[in-house]
Amino acid sequence: MQKILENALEIGRKYIPEGECASYIPELAKADKNHLGVCIRTRGMETFSAGDTKERFTIQSISKVITLMVALQHCGFDKVFEKMNMEPSGDAFNSLVKLDLTSDKPFNPMINAGAITTAGYLVPDVSFEDMLNYARRLCLDKDIVMDEKVFRSEMDHCARNRAIAYLLQSKGILESDVEKSLELYTRMCSLSVTAESLAGLGLVLSNGGRHPETGERLIDKYAVQVAKTIMLTCGMYDGSGEFAVRVGIPSKSGVGGGILAVVEKRMGIGIYGPALNEKGNSIGGSHVLEYLSKELNLHMF
Ligand code: DON
Repeated sequence: MQKILENALEIGRKYIPEGECASYIPELAKADKNHLGVCIRTRGMETFSAGDTKERFTIQSISKVITLMVALQHCGFDKVFEKMNMEPSGDAFNSLVKLDLTSDKPFNPMINAGAITTAGYLVPDVSFEDMLNYARRLCLDKDIVMDEKVFRSEMDHCARNRAIAYLLQSKGILESDVEKSLELYTRMCSLSVTAESLAGLGLVLSNGGRHPETGERLIDKYAVQVAKTIMLTCGMYDGSGEFAVRVGIPSKSGVGGGILAVVEKRMGIGIYGPALNEKGNSIGGSHVLEYLSKELNLHMF
């Protein structure tokens, strides 16, 4: 296994020069674009790591998976999808064009419009502290904290998300306090994780929401099922279709460079590689996953 991970990194690293770190949140531009790491945590409680797997980075959009599951558990399916669809958008993650012109609902909970709507379902009942505890438990990583610098940097440069949030309010989709919903969304994006934490989250999701060792239920099984399905169809934004064909593993990316991948009943995979492709997905990480999918026979079909 170790050799396969090393080979995967070698292939992934070749693509790093073609990618760039996100810069629209200034603090993210400071990342070292040459970092690349992959961690696998299996149902047999084995951990395999290669590369920069202890490096901390912000979870960004991968938090949308956690927020969605907590919202499903807290409010139920009907409420969550009353004002939100579950279809791929085919647009950039921060687009608001179709939301304004052709659709009265966000396309899905994995784009910014959908995730801000989902955060709104939690305000004011579920606090950020509650969400942080969910994140720590679900990622099997008690050391997760919020990266204050990234949070401030994003709050100072979130004109676009603020525009989306107020557009959602104007359409009667976001009914909670707009600024509080935006803040909860941004705080969740600023959680500081490692590739290993993402592998932990993947492992819990591959296990239907139960702790892999103790069997304790950490989150509703149904919420996990919905989240994994939406990860497969929408988790890699407008790159989701090609990624599903090439890799065939439900995955979710973030502009911090993380990718969470869930191999049903087998393992969780966490990736860190801050150089992104034009869709906002880790460029080295996407190739690492494609290689691992083929070598380890992980494609779901
Ligand atoms: O709201 C944003 O734009 C960021 N906090 C998260 C975006 C993101 O991670 C998109 N991922 N590929």
